[in-house]
Amino acid sequence: MKRKHLLGLQDATREEIETWLETADAMREVLARPIKKTPALRGQSVCTLFFEPSTRTRASFEMAAKTMSADTSSLTVAASSVSKGETLKDTLLTLAAMGAKCFVIRHSSSGAPELAASYSGKFGFDFSVVNAGDGQHEHPTQGLLDMMTMREHKGQIEGLNVCIIGDLLHSRVARSNVFGLLTMGANLTLCGPHTLLPQEFSAMNVKMTTNADEAVEGADVVMTLRLQNERMNGAYLPSVREFARLYGINAQRLKRAKPDAILMHPGPINRGVEISDEVADGAQSVILNQVTNGVAVRMAVLYHLLGGNEGNE
Ligand code: CP
Repeated sequence: MKRKHLLGLQDATREEIETWLETADAMREVLARPIKKTPALRGQSVCTLFFEPSTRTRASFEMAAKTMSADTSSLTVAASSVSKGETLKDTLLTLAAMGAKCFVIRHSSSGAPELAASYSGKFGFDFSVVNAGDGQHEHPTQGLLDMMTMREHKGQIEGLNVCIIGDLLHSRVARSNVFGLLTMGANLTLCGPHTLLPQEFSAMNVKMTTNADEAVEGADVVMTLRLQNERMNGAYLPSVREFARLYGINAQRLKRAKPDAILMHPGPINRGVEISDEVADGAQSVILNQVTNGVAVRMAVLYHLLGGNEGNE
């Protein structure tokens, strides 16, 4: 794989996605071993820079890098010189000057990882950038771990009926999934209230509806998304209770999907809003499986970006 950065899935080819998913399957086998540590990234230095909160993404990137023996560092932005006005550029160059070879960046601003990547190869430092979620733009490793989970449970992505439901407007997870799943040949239905259903998707090969019962009908995969209040700057909904009633996934609504459908959620979940307790913890839920696959996917992505150390595998 020739890629230096992973900024999104919009430009990812089918071959690239298949390579990441196949490598992630191999990494999942590594993670199932009693001794998981591999020397694949020995001598490499990975730095996580999270300008927004995270539980799953940050922890799994750190576990992924450590499992492959990379040196890791983690910048707590609130306690860094960013709080004194240091720019993203100067923060990156400072850490690159200490030897960081890969930056995993989460930022509230769409495009921040792309800006970071533009500094690589300049000022005497060369590094890779992974987008760990930027504003409403993309969250490519979440898209990959979601596709890995679908493949694990359904065998293949091509021809799968996937329904994504909830706050699509503010969701970087939805955007990465839409790009990746269309490239892999899934049939997509996107559903939410008019105000949270971005019209940019209408130009793509997807079905869009505001009717949740219709959207879930016959689905192989139902993916729910939370209301992303942190990105809302106005009134998008009359009430959260109404959203829960019209768009929340509960046992009754899930019955409209195929009997063997899987239920997904990128997390964090808001129980009783976009998903009920009974289905979040039910037999069709693969939410914790998604979390487990997140470590394997992030190992695969770091491995390919940093070249791996084939002699050390
Ligand atoms: N899905 C996801 O990105 O979760 P975190 O915000 O906890 O990383």
